[in-house]
Amino acid sequence: MFNISRRPRRNRKSSAVRDLVQETSLQVSDFIFPMFVQEGSNQKVEVKSMPGIYRYSLDNLLEELKEVTDLGIRGIDLFPNYPESKKDKFASESYREDTFYLKAITAIKEKFPELAIMTDVAMDPYSSDGHDGLVEDGKIVNDATLEILGKMSLAQAKAGADILGPSDMMDGRVRYIRQYLDDHKFTDVSIMSYSAKYASAFYGPFRDALESAPKFGDKKTYQMNPANKREALLEAQQDFDEGADMLMVKPALSYLDIIRDLDQNFDIPIAAYNVSGEYAMIKAAALNGWLDGDRAMMEVLLSIRRAGAKCILTYFAKEAAIILNH
Ligand code: PBG
Repeated sequence: MFNISRRPRRNRKSSAVRDLVQETSLQVSDFIFPMFVQEGSNQKVEVKSMPGIYRYSLDNLLEELKEVTDLGIRGIDLFPNYPESKKDKFASESYREDTFYLKAITAIKEKFPELAIMTDVAMDPYSSDGHDGLVEDGKIVNDATLEILGKMSLAQAKAGADILGPSDMMDGRVRYIRQYLDDHKFTDVSIMSYSAKYASAFYGPFRDALESAPKFGDKKTYQMNPANKREALLEAQQDFDEGADMLMVKPALSYLDIIRDLDQNFDIPIAAYNVSGEYAMIKAAALNGWLDGDRAMMEVLLSIRRAGAKCILTYFAKEAAIILNH
């Protein structure tokens, strides 16, 4: 008789056996749900390029959060949409004490004290230039941007943020922000650094959501070149040395190798941002009947965990939670 000594298919013969040998798993508590807040009341506006994702005014956001937390989701990442009239060169609105974004953070913390609230530390939603850093003579300047990031971070920490997400790829920002927070006695506020954030085409739908696309040029002088891997390790090393609590890779799908490299090289948790364009691709195909959206979603999320991410920022958080809770 033909003799095959090792038959890997035996470990796939039934659902029970497949589950027994499954190496990676997904939990609802792995997800951070990115959400968009805007000014006003009774607002719920669908983001055109992100079917199923909305910008909420605070009242509706609080209602939505009841659903989100009831599903077992433990973390959100909140982004503000500001009207053009509130934007300026210096992103001053970002640290004005009674600006709606900061008030929203406080209101959420009050109503959902157990929820981990992550915030975004970058100038773009508040910048009349639509860039993540301060623009001088058509250039994005680094060190002057850090001073603004410090003020923004402190304001978010005071408002009740649990985790700050510096997302602009300026040099030295983690050290600057950590020092600034500590000097003001916010030693318990965490930093999840966008360590390896690439200049990617996959952020398009997000910029629609925030109406925050750059007014000139692109983000290539600060976000990373998709061709580079060693540079990601350097960025991660610096953020680690500067005191980041968690490191993030963004986007996720075209950068699974980077997630793995960071996971293998750093003993702090690695997060991955399954970005807006990655969400939009699956949604568009599913809405056209071209693929099974639920299966594609679960496969993608699992693959990000398999690559080595401990937690995943994903617009699929709710839908995946519903499936996982079943
Ligand atoms: C900006 C920021 C971006 C995202 C998160 N924070 C966009 C950008 O860098 O242009 C993208 C998220 C997504 O695409 O889902 N600081």
